[in-house]
Amino acid sequence: MQRTADSKTSLRIAIQKSGRLTDKTIDLLKGIGLRFDDYKRNLLVKCRNFDVELLLIRDDDIPEYVQDGVCDLGFVGANETQEKGADVTVLRGLDYGVCRLSLAVPKDGNIQSVEDFEGKSIATSYPNITQNFFKERNINADTVTISGAVEIAPRLEVADAICDLVSTGNTLKANGLQELKSILESETQLIRTNKKLSPGKKQLIDKFLQRMDGHQQAERSRYIMMNAPEEAVPRIKEIIPSLKSPTVMPLADNGMVAIHTVIPIDEFWIVMEKLKTEGATGIVILPIESMIL
Ligand code: PRP
Ligand code: ZN
Repeated sequence: MQRTADSKTSLRIAIQKSGRLTDKTIDLLKGIGLRFDDYKRNLLVKCRNFDVELLLIRDDDIPEYVQDGVCDLGFVGANETQEKGADVTVLRGLDYGVCRLSLAVPKDGNIQSVEDFEGKSIATSYPNITQNFFKERNINADTVTISGAVEIAPRLEVADAICDLVSTGNTLKANGLQELKSILESETQLIRTNKKLSPGKKQLIDKFLQRMDGHQQAERSRYIMMNAPEEAVPRIKEIIPSLKSPTVMPLADNGMVAIHTVIPIDEFWIVMEKLKTEGATGIVILPIESMIL
């Protein structure tokens, strides 16, 4: 896989073709204003309004494609990048595709603890992470590398246990397996190639990141409007952990003002209760499309 990452100006971004991360990644890209069609049927899709093309591939292949510069960026689980030991830069951690890599065993079997794995075999798509885990603990366990449907291995007597990704836990339950120990926490990451990039591509990446950050900041914030007694404004300013100072406008009613500002969503209810005690009324909350700081 040799190709210099800057042999063309449009950014090439790898995303999972079909799986847990696909829809959320597509939603994120659409959310930052990128428009492309027919991504379900084509492997390489050009974006209509941004110098980007998407390469839709198996998530397992993404870290190496980005490492080798076939793609400039990739959206992939931290689990895959770590397993492959890929030489890439993690640009952002994203809060979707959250899962864990766990050891799981047949219910009511004879493996009850990590020590019980001595001399046992484990089916997994993550042989490197799994082997390291046991090596660090001086436990001899064999791994059997399987690329899909790992959860069926114990029933087929291919292995005694498995080490696989768990998200809701439904797959394990449906296969009569029980989670014994999580060995790695994972989330989706945006990774970047470490191959040299042209100034044009670097600029495109900056532009892409600015849009992404603005979108994510907006998702975590709400625009809030309210009416309040003018004399309460200094105290309200203290309550609202606003980005900048809030907009305060006089109302026709004597002594009343309208206040507009932005608040982080996590502080929403605490802020709301405090505002009401300060006499704020007609509080309106709106979602925000994007924020450029
Ligand atoms: C993982 C894993 C399980 C499933 C677990 O597959 O291999 O099949 O998710 O999810 P659950 O706990 O919610 O049931 P993934 O989507 O990563 O697909 P892949 O292994 O084929 O890449
Ligand atoms: Zn996979």
